[in-house]
Amino acid sequence: MSGPLDICGIRLRGPVLNGSGTFDAIAARRTFGDALLEDFPFDAFVSKTITLAPREGNPPPRLWEAPAGMINSIGLPNKGLEGFVRHDLPELHELPVPLAVSVMGFSRDELAALVEEVGAREEVSLLELNVSCPNVETGLVMGADPAETGRAVERVRARTEKPLIVKLTPNATDPASVGAAAEAAGADALSLVNTLKGMALDPATGRPWLGTGAGGVSGPAVRAIALEQVREVSARVSIPVIGMGGIGSGRDAADFLLAGADCIAVGTESFRDPAAGRRVSRELTMLSRNERDFSPLRAG
Ligand SMILES: Cc1cc2nc3c(=O)[nH]c(=O)nc-3n(C[C@H](O)[C@H](O)[C@H](O)COP(=O)(O)O)c2cc1C
Repeated sequence: MSGPLDICGIRLRGPVLNGSGTFDAIAARRTFGDALLEDFPFDAFVSKTITLAPREGNPPPRLWEAPAGMINSIGLPNKGLEGFVRHDLPELHELPVPLAVSVMGFSRDELAALVEEVGAREEVSLLELNVSCPNVETGLVMGADPAETGRAVERVRARTEKPLIVKLTPNATDPASVGAAAEAAGADALSLVNTLKGMALDPATGRPWLGTGAGGVSGPAVRAIALEQVREVSARVSIPVIGMGGIGSGRDAADFLLAGADCIAVGTESFRDPAAGRRVSRELTMLSRNERDFSPLRAG
C-alpha cells in the first residue's frame, strides 16, 4: 500500500500528499533549488486555498505553539484567482507530481466560478473544495451541515470534469453524514480532517493570544480525533478518503490507512521538517515490507 496507486483516475507514485496550506512549494523551490524537484516530498501537491478575490489574511498574531501541535489563525491570505493563475500556477506546474488546487468560496456562486476557471486549466489534475467557511447567503458553515455541503457540491459538480475532493471539517456534529452528502452530490473523494477550533490565552494579559481570538488546532494533538473521524467517514462512503491530522511518521500514516484512508497527507510536521513527506513515505515502505499489508478496516 506504499507503491503507485490511482486516485480518482489520477496515477500517483505513492500515497503521501501534503495538507493544503502547510508546504509552500514555491518558497521551498527558492530555498532548495532544483534539489526540491529531484526529491519532492509528496506524491501529489495540494495548493494552499485560493479565493476569488485576493485576501490579506487575519490580523496578527496568527500562530500559537500548543502542546503537541499549533493553533493557527492565518485567514487564507492569497493572491486571488487571477494572481494565482498568473503568478503561482506556472511555478506549481513545474512540480514533478500531479497538482490539486484548493478553492474556497463565500457563496455557492463564488465557489462555482472558481471551480470552473481552475478546472479548465490543463496544469490542474484535481480540485479540492475547502468547505470550512461560512456561506454568506445562509450564515451556515458549509462543511458543518450535510444539506449545505450537498448543495455546494451539487452547484459546482457540473462546472468541471476534473475530480473533486471535498475537504471535511472536524467541527461538525456528524462528519460521516457530511461526507455521505458530499458523495451523493457527486464528490469523487473526501479529505479530512481540517483543523479543530481552538484558542489560547496570552499568559501576560489573560486575553486571547490570536488576532482573531480563536484559530485551528493541528499536529499530533489532533491525531486520535482525526483517526476516528477517518474510520467513521470511510466506513460510510465508497469514494476514496485522504486522511490527515497529526501525521508525523510512517507508523502514523499506516494507522490512517488501516483506519480506512486510501491516501494520507502530512501537514504541521512539514513546518518542523520540510522533508517529512519523503521520510513518512520511506518509513511506510519499510513498514509494508515488515507487515503483511495495510488493508483498511473499512466496512463492507
Ligand atoms: C498554518 C496552516 C495553514 C493551513 N491552511 C490551510 C488551507 O489553506 N486550506 C486548507 O484546506 N487547510 C489548511 N490547513 C489545514 C491542513 O491542511 C490540515 O488539514 C490540518 O492542519 C490537519 O493536519 P496536520 O495536523 O497534519 O497539520 C492549514 C493548517 C495549518 C497548520
